[in-house]
Amino acid sequence: MAEINNDIQQAKAILDSGNLIGLPTETVYGLAGNGLNPEVVSKIFETKNRPHFDPLILHSHSLEAISKYVKEIPEQARQLANAFWPGPLTLLLERNDRVPDLTCAGLTKAAFRIPNHPTALNLLRILDYPLAAPSANPFGYISPTRSEHVKQQLGDQISFILEGEISKVGIESTIVGFEKGQATIYRLGGLEVDAIEQVIGKVKTLPHSSSEPNAPGMLKSHYAPKKEIVLGNIASLMAKYPNKKLGTLSFSTPYNHAEVSLTLSKTRDMKEAAQNLFAHLRNLDDSNVDLILTEKVPEDGLGKAINDRLQRASVKN
Ligand code: TXA
Ligand code: MG
Repeated sequence: MAEINNDIQQAKAILDSGNLIGLPTETVYGLAGNGLNPEVVSKIFETKNRPHFDPLILHSHSLEAISKYVKEIPEQARQLANAFWPGPLTLLLERNDRVPDLTCAGLTKAAFRIPNHPTALNLLRILDYPLAAPSANPFGYISPTRSEHVKQQLGDQISFILEGEISKVGIESTIVGFEKGQATIYRLGGLEVDAIEQVIGKVKTLPHSSSEPNAPGMLKSHYAPKKEIVLGNIASLMAKYPNKKLGTLSFSTPYNHAEVSLTLSKTRDMKEAAQNLFAHLRNLDDSNVDLILTEKVPEDGLGKAINDRLQRASVKN
């Protein structure tokens, strides 16, 4: 069973020997390994049970370090990096051949991010390679926002999880790519689109910009709990299932007649809602309810990114 502590030297030793660790970040916990070593990267895919066509994000501590792995950094990418790194932003950049094909699923671009988490940054600074790290959940399940979540799900498969307290942002990074000078959002996430537009002007959002930018339509669901989850008007849905033990995940108003009722943010604070999202879904999934009912949140701020995840979690397996 994986050990959890905050010793970055121990983390480095495990990584240097070609093994994987649980890595805390401000968005969600990652399953991390040396992103330049195809054998290690292959272990990441196996451990997560993730299809090889779904590329990984490389995590580093500075733009200078990232520069070693890319052909160029477009001006807009540089502006975003300066404004938001370290932070919940991932940039797609033309990579050079130091990045193994396996890491980026053979694409000409690779994904890069500098996480805004003190422990992760301290670790990345003492490594001489970037860390490939997808979210540390079995493929398709809810992303982890606490070390304990990683242990519950992958604790038998990895020996070490670096402790980093709760992931403050709570949803994955926003992914931005650039095509012929046009910045495009590939995945909505923890950095608001408005904030990005304040720096580089209007950006395009892919019509299906979601958590599966590279596999549109190929995967039926994501972030899915084991229990069935229905998205809609909670009050009407409750009336529809009178004989079931119901769990509700609402935005701000609790449903006291439910068996378990959780709210994302009583004060309607989108940041708090994002931070609670995955942990609440997980708690409901682990509770004794038969069915989880949830509703969309307002579309402002991080609301779109939250709704994207709720939508995907509610698609039936
Ligand atoms: O916040 C995050 O981004 C977290 C933490 C651990 O950093 N990581 C994360 O990784 O969410 P993952 O593997 O669960 O999601 C990465 C997404 C995938 O959906 C993948 O398709 C997309 O990034 N991606 C990676 N490289 C890409 C590329 N070259 N082009 C398009 N999409 C890419
Ligand atoms: Mg993921």
